[in-house]
Amino acid sequence: MIARVQECGQSNLPGVIVETSTELPQDTDADTVVIGVLDGEKIHHDIDGILNGLVAAGEAKAKPRHLAVAHAGGKRWVLVGLGKRDELDPETVRVAAASALGRARELGARRLCWEVPHKVGSEIAAGIVEGTLLTGYRFTRYKSKPPEDDGGLDALVVSAHDDLSAVVAEAEIVARAVNAARNLQNTPANAMTPTAVADAARVLGELDGVTVEVERREGLTRLGMGSFACVAQGSPEEPALITLRYEGPDASGPVLGLVGKAVTFDTGGISIKNANKMSEMKFDMSGGAAVLGAIEAIAELRLPVRVVAVVGATENMPAGNAVKPGDVVTAANGTTIEIINTDAEGRLVLADCLTHAVNLGAERLVDIATLTGSIITALGNTHAGLFASDDDWAEQVRSAATATGEIVWRLPLHDDYAKALDSDTADLMNVNETRKAGSSVAAQFLQRFTADVPWAHLDIAGTAWGAGKPYAAKGGSGWGVRLFVELARSLAR
Ligand code: BES
Ligand code: MN
Ligand code: ZN
Repeated sequence: MIARVQECGQSNLPGVIVETSTELPQDTDADTVVIGVLDGEKIHHDIDGILNGLVAAGEAKAKPRHLAVAHAGGKRWVLVGLGKRDELDPETVRVAAASALGRARELGARRLCWEVPHKVGSEIAAGIVEGTLLTGYRFTRYKSKPPEDDGGLDALVVSAHDDLSAVVAEAEIVARAVNAARNLQNTPANAMTPTAVADAARVLGELDGVTVEVERREGLTRLGMGSFACVAQGSPEEPALITLRYEGPDASGPVLGLVGKAVTFDTGGISIKNANKMSEMKFDMSGGAAVLGAIEAIAELRLPVRVVAVVGATENMPAGNAVKPGDVVTAANGTTIEIINTDAEGRLVLADCLTHAVNLGAERLVDIATLTGSIITALGNTHAGLFASDDDWAEQVRSAATATGEIVWRLPLHDDYAKALDSDTADLMNVNETRKAGSSVAAQFLQRFTADVPWAHLDIAGTAWGAGKPYAAKGGSGWGVRLFVELARSLAR
């Protein structure tokens, strides 16, 4: 079960094998063992009292992320703090797994065994797998020499008294799909063109239950997508409207519509950005990457759901033929839009993608986009912004987010924010001139294209890259893949 999007000569821990064992850690062939230390609890399977001795001496502590190392029974032991048992959650474990892998790598570990703490839920074992595989990810495509720190493991062995092979295999699928999304994100815009995004999507069509269709510039015109098309018009790179459908075995529940912004490079267009950090705008396709990663995982997990996914891929470039401030375009749902600022391009792409998802039968919508700098001002790198037209749907998205540690904070929609987009000339302007409440105004713009289907919008400008998670320290984070898998699971329940 090899994840596919990453099979483009890019690193996704190709060498790491994930295994499960019901043997005690000391009886496995691992060279290094990680044991979590819980507050006030002994280490159950000690070797000559050495491990509990470290705890008694205060060298090993339950303090989250705290590390201690020992040698016993011919193996290295890494003791990592997990805090209090009644506060133990998967995020604590992912972070602990990141710390433990860092130390294990310094020690030269090749076969790493993680002992799952006794009497915890399966989500804790999943957190160990995710934390380890996400931390081990390196983007090496452009390194002439393989870096010394290659992420570096041959195997992760998950040891527990019970047989956790199903849980571990599922967590591996999800983690590899997140890393596949990170490969798409990290690949620079000269290689990760809209065509390359479409090619990555087409590969997913090999998975059972998945079909993929791609429309190019001429298709956008044929579908009346004047809003999406105007963003692409200044670039010689052909845009791609990518539609994926997944139908799982015995699928039930509402059709889930996932919509992703994949602006492969955002210069701002004629309303050009300044040079400061503009290179980071290769990450402006992160929403689309999350949708592709999610489809990969959902299909490999064979989840019993129906999904229609729409990814809008284009560059946003300045050019002699680029869209200009003041131009008016007509979206696929007939709404006319006065372009005030060509740098507010994401909402123009998403508008037509949302209409498309509705037309294809989506009964619940979530879009995901690096949409506004304002969301970074409001929420930093910690929460993504959540906006929703429906309280129940908002709650379902929020609880999936909480379960995965890809946390969200709901921000308001209000008629006042919509009024800020009233245009003298067209139905709608693409930005409000004051720039107040920029993220809510952008969300209000998107809502005009949701046709009253329960809809949620995730603004991931602050979380898609460089968000500082210990298990995704550099580059793209793959934010949203795990949330969408969890959301699909919740629809299947
Ligand atoms: N892709 C950007 C948003 C962005 C900015 C993401 C910085 C991550 C970091 C988006 O297309 C954009 O340019 N938004 C503008 C909107 C404005 C013109 C109303 C912004 O946020 O400045
Ligand atoms: Mn922009
Ligand atoms: Zn953008």
